[in-house]
Amino acid sequence: MNEQLHQITLNFADGVTHQFSVAAGSNILDAAIAAEMPVLYQCRSGGCSSCICNLTQGEAVTQAGASASLLGSEFDAGQRLLCVSQANSDCTFDMAYGSEVGSTAAREVHAFIDSVERIGSNVMKLTVELAEGEWLEFRPGQFMQIVVPGLGVLRSYSPSSTQVNLPKMEFLIRLLPGGAMSTFLENEAGTDHVLTLSGPYGAFFLRDEHKRVPHIFVAGGTGLAPILSMIDTLRQSSGRKPPMLLSFGCAVPEALFSQEDIELRQQWLPSLEARICVDREATEGLHLGSPVSALREGDVSNPDTVAYLCGPQPMIDAATQRLIELGVKAQNIFAEQFVASH
Ligand code: FES
Repeated sequence: MNEQLHQITLNFADGVTHQFSVAAGSNILDAAIAAEMPVLYQCRSGGCSSCICNLTQGEAVTQAGASASLLGSEFDAGQRLLCVSQANSDCTFDMAYGSEVGSTAAREVHAFIDSVERIGSNVMKLTVELAEGEWLEFRPGQFMQIVVPGLGVLRSYSPSSTQVNLPKMEFLIRLLPGGAMSTFLENEAGTDHVLTLSGPYGAFFLRDEHKRVPHIFVAGGTGLAPILSMIDTLRQSSGRKPPMLLSFGCAVPEALFSQEDIELRQQWLPSLEARICVDREATEGLHLGSPVSALREGDVSNPDTVAYLCGPQPMIDAATQRLIELGVKAQNIFAEQFVASH
């Protein structure tokens, strides 16, 4: 009996279209990878949203037994996670990124530890240098997985540095009591250690097609790392810099970090405004409240404003709602949930 095939069309944001076939009932992402489509993915199990896209024609459903992190309303609006979906007919999907993005395949690299420095009450800055002859390409906002030496477990961190800083890379790591990476950094990490990293991963990255419009960045805790990489990338790019607003918050003043880095960037970038927030015990110059509460009427004067959010899920939900109220279009809001893992 002939296997029934469905034709899948992927429309990328740069106008490029790719097509491939998938057997009825088979996983769409597996078929896309086998056909070498430039699609983004990471967990392949419905949990990270890297493979999200928008179904515009045809019928694609979540495979039986798969768990997807999509809300019912998102599914109804056409959103699909390719890694847990099957096609019941020919389908067309819109991808929110250009076709060149997913062609940056993840790879494994090795890097020496340059320095480990405590920069806040519960944050470490880890600086590494890629080993001789090793290289990778990543977009500002994407993340790497780092193997915790001795334990072999993986932890995901976004570089706060940019492609231009390679072979050096910098990560901001939140310390968790008893956490695998935290224990390694606090007790064992030294400049003789070689780390194994893989990546880049993730669909949260600075969108080139929006780089001339006003930017709003909302960051909670070490969710600041990918945002710093984005701001630096805009700074390093040619041409006029767009207006940028950074709203960054931690629980209390002693938990704050990277303030000098932010001030330095404000000196370099007159178009960057920063609001530094704490939930409690605000001292002079700090906004009392969440980075979402620091957003105000008048922050969005251009309807094409683009926003990037990184932090805990409740912050992302609140920031998304507030930004839409202020006039940012939902499709111009990009977010990544920051999940601390032990
Ligand atoms: S690859 Fe993680 S949700 Fe699909």
